[in-house]
Amino acid sequence: MELRPLGSTGMRVSPLGLGTVKFGRNEQVKYPRGFELPDDVQIVQLLDLAQELGINLLDTAPAYGSSQQRLGRLLGARRSRWLIVSKVGEIFENGVSRFDFSYAHTLATVEQSLRTLKTDVIDCVLIHSDGDDLRILERQGALDALRELKRRGLIRAHGMSSKTVEGGLRTVAEMDVVMATCNLDYNDELPVLEAAARAGKGVLIKKGLMSGHVQGAEGVRRSFAHVFAQPGVSSMIVGTINPAHLRSNVELLEHVLGRSR
Ligand SMILES: NC(=O)c1ccc[n+]([C@@H]2O[C@H](COP(=O)([O-])OP(=O)(O)OC[C@H]3O[C@@H](n4cnc5c(N)ncnc54)[C@H](OP(=O)(O)O)[C@@H]3O)[C@@H](O)[C@H]2O)c1
Repeated sequence: MELRPLGSTGMRVSPLGLGTVKFGRNEQVKYPRGFELPDDVQIVQLLDLAQELGINLLDTAPAYGSSQQRLGRLLGARRSRWLIVSKVGEIFENGVSRFDFSYAHTLATVEQSLRTLKTDVIDCVLIHSDGDDLRILERQGALDALRELKRRGLIRAHGMSSKTVEGGLRTVAEMDVVMATCNLDYNDELPVLEAAARAGKGVLIKKGLMSGHVQGAEGVRRSFAHVFAQPGVSSMIVGTINPAHLRSNVELLEHVLGRSR
């Protein structure tokens, strides 16, 4: 797949990224069907396949159960082949989420993620919003902590996985990357994508397949066509643990992007 700039970060990402919620968490998730977590062999095969297909971007978070632990253990020397996006702010324990956007917790989370992922640097760290985007950005320490981590070279870029237009716009103004929702049923955050395109900031799309509620291959194709018709999209993060879905997603997306060139 042809790589695209992640805004002005200097990094180049595949238009399809691999979401890894399903590598580590199967409770309190919004997918249409329940599922077993994949075993280690399945994850290694999926990562190898993704790489073979030209994907270079992994999206994880401390709140995705054992996702980070498994990536750290299973990537090993292959870590350098990937750009890794992680998050701060959401803590998922015993089936319940809580949030901490303080300066100290943000520093501690990234330091822990570096150890868990067995890496010296995380390519991009996003604030994992609880929905109160502006309050987090204006009144909590996470933004300052991420700036400090970037200054120290422990992260290469920062951003927010935002949930509101106001929060997305502020993220575009203050940070390197915004992760926003866009799909066939939900377009409220398009002003954020437009602002990011104007400002040259990175845009990651989440829930582009409506968390799996999209219908069949034609629904997937239409979803890709819709998302990539929007300005400024760097990469759409699609979560899958099904190798056949991964293959067909790459095929469908290449077809859509080929036609839009
Ligand atoms: N920061 C945040 O607040 C936040 C929130 C949500 C998500 N995310 C990130 O974004 C990623 C994607 O979001 P998401 O997982 O909610 O939604 P999504 O990518 O819209 O949907 C993922 C679901 O779609 C299914 N799927 C994938 N390809 C398919 C295909 N070709 N045909 C049919 N079904 C298909 C997957 O099932 P199979 O496994 O069966 O393929 C999975 O259940 C996550 O993994 C995560 O990394 C971030």
